[in-house]
Amino acid sequence: MPAQSLIIDCDPGVDDAVALFLAFAAPELEVLAVTTVAGNVPGRLTQRNARIVRQIAGREDAPVFGGAERPLKRPPAGAGAFHGAEGLGDLEPFEPTGIVGDGPAANAIVDLVMRRPEGSVAVAVLGPMTNLALAMRRERRLAERLGPVVVMGGARSEGGNITPSAEFNVWADPDAAAVVFGSGCDVVAFGLDVTHQVRATEARIAAVEAVDSAAARATASMLRFSQRVERDTVGWPTSDWGAPLHDPCPIAWLIRPELFQTRPCRIEVETASDLTRGHTAVEFRVDPATARHRWAVAADAQGVFDLIVETLKDQARGTGA
Ligand code: RIB
Ligand code: CA
Repeated sequence: MPAQSLIIDCDPGVDDAVALFLAFAAPELEVLAVTTVAGNVPGRLTQRNARIVRQIAGREDAPVFGGAERPLKRPPAGAGAFHGAEGLGDLEPFEPTGIVGDGPAANAIVDLVMRRPEGSVAVAVLGPMTNLALAMRRERRLAERLGPVVVMGGARSEGGNITPSAEFNVWADPDAAAVVFGSGCDVVAFGLDVTHQVRATEARIAAVEAVDSAAARATASMLRFSQRVERDTVGWPTSDWGAPLHDPCPIAWLIRPELFQTRPCRIEVETASDLTRGHTAVEFRVDPATARHRWAVAADAQGVFDLIVETLKDQARGTGA
């Protein structure tokens, strides 16, 4: 089966970094480009961090394009407390050798999608959806040309993580999320309902640490950082607890969709209310034959971590990294 062509739009961010390490190592995916957006940390850091991860992963072939420095309408957000001031947890940042692609992320998304056969390019959005919304505004035909759009964002039954009713990515730029969900493209959304089922327990982190490669060591470092933040900020209710693994979920679905259960739905975003800004209203009472959105409701958490470990292990064997 040919590899799925993929653009990854992200705001690294420790879980974005883990998602990138997985995608770069997976033979099932052809990463055409990484585009970055301000979100967890400012845009200059998310762009640098994507280049750092690319270098550690040995994937200088994948271009990185810097994107939106702020949401469509709202003031810039931030979630540095969960990712460290530099955005990569405890990882010591360095000036990466790889270059940044010419032009903004939105233009790169349009160019890469419109030059390829209809439906052949998937887009994974792992941060605020600003770049994809700008790309859709620049090219009105984009939505119909896109392959699956997989997003980490939103919350339904789990409640919010940045406010009681909203998840960070959608809250940070609700207007962009409304553009994407209202565009008519096919979206598979991985919200907190499912990412909170996929937790990096001690045993799962140890399995990643046992893989002998720079990418695996960096992945484990990110997971350890999130473990400490989770313990200090949210609490540690049971001995076998762990931090939720958000951004790798849509990437894992692209590789092994059978690891997740999704339901057809219609997703709408609150943009008018300050109190419930960014709330995702997920309606399951839709016609499955015509619904364009799907909401992930369940995950095989151990299967996701097994996929990460096996993918990194195979990459290490292949490159001797
Ligand atoms: O709410 C989780 C999301 O917000 C993840 O994408 C994380 O990286 C942050 O951007
Ligand atoms: Ca993210």
